[in-house]
Amino acid sequence: MRRIIIIALAFAISSLTSCNNMEKTTKSPSGNLSIKFNLTKTGEAAYQLTYNNSIVIKESTLGMDFRDAKPLAGDLKIISSSEKEYNNTWEMLWGEQREVENHYNELIVKLEETKSPQRKFNLIFRVYDDGIGFRYEFPEQENLECVIIMDENTQFNLTDDHKCWWIPGDWDIYEHLYNTTKFSEIDAIAKRDHPNLGQTTIPFNAVNTPITMKTKDGVYISFHEANLTDYSGMTLLINKDSMRMQSELVGSIDKSKVKRELPFKTPWRTIQLAKKAGDLIKSNLIVNLNEPNKLNDVSYIEPMKYMGIWWEMHLGKASWDYGMSQENDTWIDKGNAHGRHGATTENAKYYIDFAAKHDIKGLLIEGWNTGWEHWVGFEEREGVFDFVTPYPDYDLKEVVRYGKEKGVGIIMHHETSAAPRTYDQQLDTAYALMKKLGIHAVKTGYVGNIIPKGEYHHGQWMVNHYRKVLLKAAESKVMMDAHEPIKATGLRRTYPNMMSREGLRGQEFNAWSDDMNPPEHLTIVPFTRMLAGPIDFTPGIFDIKFNKYNKVNQVNTTIAKQLALYVIINSPLQMAADLPENYEGNPAFQFIDDVAVNWEKTEILNAEIGEYITTVRQARGKDEWFLGSITNKDKRKHNINLDFLTAGKKYTATIYADAKDAHWNNNPTAYTIEKKIVTDKDSITLTLANGGGVAISFIPVK
Ligand code: NOJ
Ligand code: CA
Repeated sequence: MRRIIIIALAFAISSLTSCNNMEKTTKSPSGNLSIKFNLTKTGEAAYQLTYNNSIVIKESTLGMDFRDAKPLAGDLKIISSSEKEYNNTWEMLWGEQREVENHYNELIVKLEETKSPQRKFNLIFRVYDDGIGFRYEFPEQENLECVIIMDENTQFNLTDDHKCWWIPGDWDIYEHLYNTTKFSEIDAIAKRDHPNLGQTTIPFNAVNTPITMKTKDGVYISFHEANLTDYSGMTLLINKDSMRMQSELVGSIDKSKVKRELPFKTPWRTIQLAKKAGDLIKSNLIVNLNEPNKLNDVSYIEPMKYMGIWWEMHLGKASWDYGMSQENDTWIDKGNAHGRHGATTENAKYYIDFAAKHDIKGLLIEGWNTGWEHWVGFEEREGVFDFVTPYPDYDLKEVVRYGKEKGVGIIMHHETSAAPRTYDQQLDTAYALMKKLGIHAVKTGYVGNIIPKGEYHHGQWMVNHYRKVLLKAAESKVMMDAHEPIKATGLRRTYPNMMSREGLRGQEFNAWSDDMNPPEHLTIVPFTRMLAGPIDFTPGIFDIKFNKYNKVNQVNTTIAKQLALYVIINSPLQMAADLPENYEGNPAFQFIDDVAVNWEKTEILNAEIGEYITTVRQARGKDEWFLGSITNKDKRKHNINLDFLTAGKKYTATIYADAKDAHWNNNPTAYTIEKKIVTDKDSITLTLANGGGVAISFIPVK
C-alpha cells in the first residue's frame, strides 16, 4: 500500500505548438481536447477550449484587478512559450482507486506588459484527456514585490444555455440544496437565504464550485479549482446576457481578495469534460493537479468506519451541553440538570461495545468539552470552547483506555463555533492532549459566521487557518475530518491525513431542517460536490421516520438506499450514523459490517445526474466487490452485467433491495435480502423503489 510507482516521462516537445507567436495550441495526450492560447486585439491574454472537434469554451480572457495599481488586462506581449509532455502513475495512499495515471501536455506562456509598469506573469495550462487546469504564476521581478488582488478576472464563456446543477455562491457555507436550471435561469440571490444556515448575504448572482453542466450534445462540463493554497476561494459570477461565468474571489475584512508576496502561483482553475456523466466521477484531474504526498509519516493514516455520539443530539434525544445555565452573567453548573447530556462515560462505553462487536474502528464523541451551553446564537463566541477540559460526567482518559482495550479509537471533536482565533490559541495544548492519549483522528467544526466579522470561511485568511490546522494535525499524527470546511481542492494527495470533510448538505439536515434533503439530492451530489473530494455525509440511518423524537422530519430515502450510499459516496471515513439500538438485530446492518472503505478500483455502471447512479468498487487488496445503486423519486430497473468480477470465479452476491411495496415516504423500511451464487458471465436486474436503492456485496465462495 505504501509502494509508490513513478514513471516520470517529462520532455520538451515542440511539435505540439502551432501557429504564429500570438497564438499557441496544445492538445491533450489523445488529442480529444485542445486549448488555444492567444492575445486579443487589445493584447489581453485569452484561451479557448475544443473538445472532440467542437468548441466548448469560447475565447475567454484572463486578468486581475489590484489595489493601488493598474489592472492586469491588455497591452501584453508573449516573451516565450514552451511545452512538455508529462506522464506518470502514482499510488493513492487510500481512496477510490489505487493507481492514478497523470498524463498531460503542459503549455507555459510567459507574458509581459508592453507599457509601464511592464509587469511579468506566466500562464500555465495542463491539458489532459479529461479536462484542463490553468493557473497564473507571478515570478520574482524588479519593481513588484507584492500584490493586493481586488479580484481575479478569469472568464469562462459558454457556447449555449446549458443545463446546470448549482448552489449559490456563498462565501461561508456550502450546505445549500442543489438547483437544476438552465444557465439563463440561475438566480442565486433568490436561493441564497436559508433559516438554518450561517450564510453570507451575497449581493450578486454567483455560484459556488463545482458547478456542473450538460450541453445539448450530451457533453458534461464541471468547473472547479485545484490546490487552493494561500489564496481566496473562487465563486463564479453569472452573466446571462453574454453566457459567461467570471471568477469572483471571496473577500476579506479590508475588502481586498488576496494579498501575496512574489513569487506565487494561483490555484488551478479546472474544467472537467466527459461524454458520460459517470466519467466525471472517474476523472482524477483535481488530485492530479495537486503536489505529491509531503508527509513523511503516514503510519497512523487508516480509512475506517466509525460511529458517533452524534445523531442523538441532532434528533434532540440528547444534548451537547451538560446543563450549565446563565444567571446574572455567571455560568452555574447545574450538573447535567436536564439529564440529557450525550457524552457521558457510560454512553461512550455503550457505543464502544457495539462498535467493537462489528469491527468498527472509530467513535466520535461530540459535546465532551466545556462551552456547549453558549455556542450558537451568541455573537460573542470567542473564548467559549475549551478543547482540553471535559465535562464532569465524561472521563476522557477512561473512555480512551476502554476504547483501546476493545479496538475502537476515539475521534476527537473540536467545534470552534467559527471563532478560529480561540482555536488557534489552543492548538498546541489541544493537539498535545491527543498525542498524549494516542488519539489519531479529529473532527473539526466551524458553525456560524466567522469571527472577526468581515472574514469568511472561504477567504484567504481562513484558507490559511484550515491549512495550519491540517499541518498541526499531521505533525501530531492525526487524521482530519472537517465540517464547515474550506472546500475540497485535491489536497488529500499532498496531505493524506486530510481524510474527509462535510461542505455540503449532509444527513444532519434531515433531522432538523425546515427543508429536508429531497430524494434527488444524492443523485446530484456525486456529480457536483463529490468531484471535489471525499464527503463525510454520514449515511446509514435505519430509523427513517424517527417519530419517537420528531414527527415532522424524516430521511427521504429507503433503508436500501442508505446502504447503497456506502458505495456511492466516496469517503475514507464512513459513518454508521444511526443509534446502536436502531441497528441491533436488523439484518440489513450486515452490509455496513461487510462494506469496505478503501478501494482498489471504481466503476460507474450507469448514471444520469439528478436521476440515478450505479457504482461498483473493489475493496483495496481484496477480491471483494460492493455495488450501490440509487434513484431519485422515480422507481426504476437496471440490467447489470457482472463482467467487472474476476473471470471464472464464483461469488456469493448478497442483495439488499427495496421490497416490492417500498417507497421513500410511504414504506421506507421495507427491504429484502437475497443470496445468489454468481460469476462474471451473469447479469442481474436491479429493482429500485421510488427514492430507493440497492446494495450488493460480492464475496468469493471459499
Ligand atoms: C455541524 C456539523 O455538521 C455536525 O456534524 C456537528 O454535530 C455540529 N455542527 C456540532 O459541532
Ligand atoms: Ca454542517
